[in-house]
Amino acid sequence: MIFDSHTHYDDEAFDGDREALFNSMHKDGVDFVVNVGADMESNRKTLVLLQKYPFIYGAVGIHPTETADLTEEDIQWLKEKTEEPKVVAIGEIGLDYHWDEPDRSIQKKWFERQLGLASQTGLPVIIHSRDAAQDTLTILKSWQENIKAGVIHCFSYTKEIAREYLNMDYYFGIGGVITFQNAKKLIEAVSYIPMNRILLETDCPYLAPEPYRGRRNQSAYINFTAKRLAEIKGITKEEVLMQTLQNAKDFYGIG
Ligand code: NI
Repeated sequence: MIFDSHTHYDDEAFDGDREALFNSMHKDGVDFVVNVGADMESNRKTLVLLQKYPFIYGAVGIHPTETADLTEEDIQWLKEKTEEPKVVAIGEIGLDYHWDEPDRSIQKKWFERQLGLASQTGLPVIIHSRDAAQDTLTILKSWQENIKAGVIHCFSYTKEIAREYLNMDYYFGIGGVITFQNAKKLIEAVSYIPMNRILLETDCPYLAPEPYRGRRNQSAYINFTAKRLAEIKGITKEEVLMQTLQNAKDFYGIG
């Protein structure tokens, strides 16, 4: 009963055994996966994956750190691809001041351009925001009326920032980081966020939960994240999986 709301199975980390992994997913309890584009090549690969596997859906978009050479033609290509029935979101898009390149003005320009795409197409947005809490919030507030729905992927900010996004009806992408020993601030925020606003995600191949921290992540490991979330919320792991499956279906509009 797992819905992995954010994956990068196009990554070369899966080149050796991608097909075997997909073939065992159903047996491992994984029902739905959304593969998220980050640059032009990963968007193209995402489109191939969703055509090949019934349980894979896709998001198209350009990650902030990949925007340096982006062109208006690329945006038009993305727009065309949003017409594919299994493309269910624009993402991942946003701001990354941790790596802090390209220049912040370039990141902001393409972030807003892709929010415009989401507004035109009526698709929800998947937001990447790292060390850029205030600017991300300011921009998303200014677009709020034009955006259907949004998720803050790999949410890593405070309870106060979470409150701002809850007021805007956003969802929160929660992954392996909540199983880490040093996740105190995040767990405080997650305790505060209601269950009906949480989407579970791996961000695989990155951010594997304990006991696999540092190794290649995969959708079945969501079981460890769900178990930790169940402890935090005082409910069962099954309840966590059932509720987050429904949340993700609602968010992505999957029937
Ligand atoms: Ni990602």
